[in-house]
Amino acid sequence: MIRGSDSHIDTLLRSMTLDEKIGQLNMLTAGLVITGPGDPGDYMAALRAGRLGSLFNWFGWDKVHEVQRVAVEETRLGIPLIFGYDVIHGHRTIFPISLGEAAAFDEALWEATARISAVEAAAEGLTMTFAPMLDVSRDPRWGRIAESAGEDTWLTSRFAEAKVRGFQGDDLTNPTSLVGCAKHLAGYGAALAGRDYAQAEISERTFNDVYLPPFHAAVRSGVRSLMPAFSDFEGVPMTANGLIINDLVRGKWGFDGLVVSDYNAIAELIPHGVAADIVEAAALALNAGVDVDMMGHAYTRGLSAAVQRGLVDMGTLEAAVRRVLKLKAELGLFDDPYRAAAVQRMNDKTRLEHRKAARQAGARSIVLLKNSGLLPVKAAPHCVALLGPLADTQAEMLGPWSGAGRVEDMVSFATGLRDTWPKSEIITRPGVTIDGDDVSGIADAVELARSADLVVLCLGEARMMSGEAGSRARLGLPGRQMELANAVFATGKPVVVVLSCGRALAVTPLIERAEAVLLTWYLGSEAGHALGDVLTGAVNPSGRLPISWPVDIGQIPIFYSRLPTGRPFDAKFRYTSKYLDMPNDPLFTFGFGLSYTRFAYANLKVSPTEFNADDEIDISVDVTNSGAVAGEETVMQFFRDPVASVSRPVLQLTGVAKARLAPGETKTVKLKLRARDMSFSDRDGNPVLEPGVFQIFVGPSAREADLLKADIMLVG
Ligand code: GLC
Repeated sequence: MIRGSDSHIDTLLRSMTLDEKIGQLNMLTAGLVITGPGDPGDYMAALRAGRLGSLFNWFGWDKVHEVQRVAVEETRLGIPLIFGYDVIHGHRTIFPISLGEAAAFDEALWEATARISAVEAAAEGLTMTFAPMLDVSRDPRWGRIAESAGEDTWLTSRFAEAKVRGFQGDDLTNPTSLVGCAKHLAGYGAALAGRDYAQAEISERTFNDVYLPPFHAAVRSGVRSLMPAFSDFEGVPMTANGLIINDLVRGKWGFDGLVVSDYNAIAELIPHGVAADIVEAAALALNAGVDVDMMGHAYTRGLSAAVQRGLVDMGTLEAAVRRVLKLKAELGLFDDPYRAAAVQRMNDKTRLEHRKAARQAGARSIVLLKNSGLLPVKAAPHCVALLGPLADTQAEMLGPWSGAGRVEDMVSFATGLRDTWPKSEIITRPGVTIDGDDVSGIADAVELARSADLVVLCLGEARMMSGEAGSRARLGLPGRQMELANAVFATGKPVVVVLSCGRALAVTPLIERAEAVLLTWYLGSEAGHALGDVLTGAVNPSGRLPISWPVDIGQIPIFYSRLPTGRPFDAKFRYTSKYLDMPNDPLFTFGFGLSYTRFAYANLKVSPTEFNADDEIDISVDVTNSGAVAGEETVMQFFRDPVASVSRPVLQLTGVAKARLAPGETKTVKLKLRARDMSFSDRDGNPVLEPGVFQIFVGPSAREADLLKADIMLVG
């Protein structure tokens, strides 16, 4: 019999005790990283007793090999383990956080960094990553926006596809592949008031049209596992939501992979108030379609009793076990449980290539928010005052969820600038700490600024001020950083602000007073070199905001793809949708990002102008580099359905194209739009496309004043 074949799995199932079946549904942390409550207990004892199916937060070739050896040689059935880890934006080589990478608007980049991450993670024995994170995020108070691809559904869907391709490759038995895990299904980003784990208030239409599509894109791309969110939809926790997991994802979408709960999430059905005890929680989750219990001890403590009480039938339980065994077979683990043995070792040449990729990804993720002409710095300054609490730190460059990244491997801004300008004097002064109250260091920093030729002021958040459980109710600069900034601005010296953060911040006064502002998110391993490349113009910044950037926290939630309302903004008339004390528009709109050159758009063409629901629409536009240096333009294509049976958003992104242009060069940029991509969902979640006028827009961002427009007609 072929090991891993269906007949092999059937034979295994028939020979398994109930405890061994439940054991395959049990995933425990090995404790290297703790991201939730609970204690894994003696997971090796559980393994030897046949009560463990997968282990996470455990990597390193020898360490994984030893545990896998016990699984294969010291358990009754010798079923190998899956080893999982949060390889979100890199394993050893750390790339920009996902929100930063999203700013590159570059599917090839997203796939490439996931591929490198998988190679590195698989070389250390891992077989599953709990990524990509696909939660559309419209509230920057929510810390996990840092892990997301931002506020847009279409962009997050493309991100999903690229990351699944990168992590999984085209053959899971390839020892460099990782099982991807699309998370967190779904609507987690709508956490009330941006507070992590809070209830998610979402209409069914918004759930279907905004939050679900990226997961559908991941499933269509062949993702082999999914993770339900901690949050609820309409009061039903996603971990117990059979309508979504079983009926929609497995039933309608045809997903046949593994559903892995979030950390302790099954047991948390009790505090959610939908289960009276661990038995009910286990039954609810298993019946809803959750195969694996991550760190909840719910299945091992509650499923036997649930079967005895008739809350769960054995067929349902065995179907879950079969999916676990099938995924292990897809990974080739029954044939070669030590698959990493075949994996290329990380030699120095590979490591250098990966760091080079991190440097390129970093530079492409940086968004130039403001530039009065100070940048690029053409000649190496004699003396650079590199100020601020983020000027000379390696740790903070990791960002949240930093995989197996090591602090010592990170290139700080200080190191990066010293490598960029080796003959310059680069002097650092933190001035203040990131969130402390001590302002005694400001004077020293100001002193240095006065004598410098260039001031680079590195401000922002600490890496753990975003990410999981990293929500903030205030979105200004933490601590006394703004006082440092004001004191430095008061010197009259031209200041470049470098902003490291995991979200959009409400820092309008800072941006108004700076000569130039570079948004650097958390750039990972090559942060300092990526910054140097952009500061000098070696790389012309091309990053664009994947989120709306607010004037002030009072505007939140703020996103471009909003409904028009019956009283859209009118500055001249009181009784329209606006604030008395603040503009409606964000400080920077979705898609905003400056370059060291300028681009002009002309000659929008759309064909056919009358189309059918199954048509593809050809769109072209002439883009000219009207500046003095080469640059890369990200061309965005939106649509609007101005009259429909439901109110449709004023804009929706449905296409992106890149154009690299020399000074003075014009290119005709082409995009294809599938008519189906302009549909919305009906009550049953089915796509609807109604005859009538559709408006096509093309331009550099969601700022409507900058967009070229053409009308087309759906005729049938
Ligand atoms: C965490 C996160 C989830 C992560 C898991 C394992 O609580 O919600 O995104 O994959 O636990 O670390």
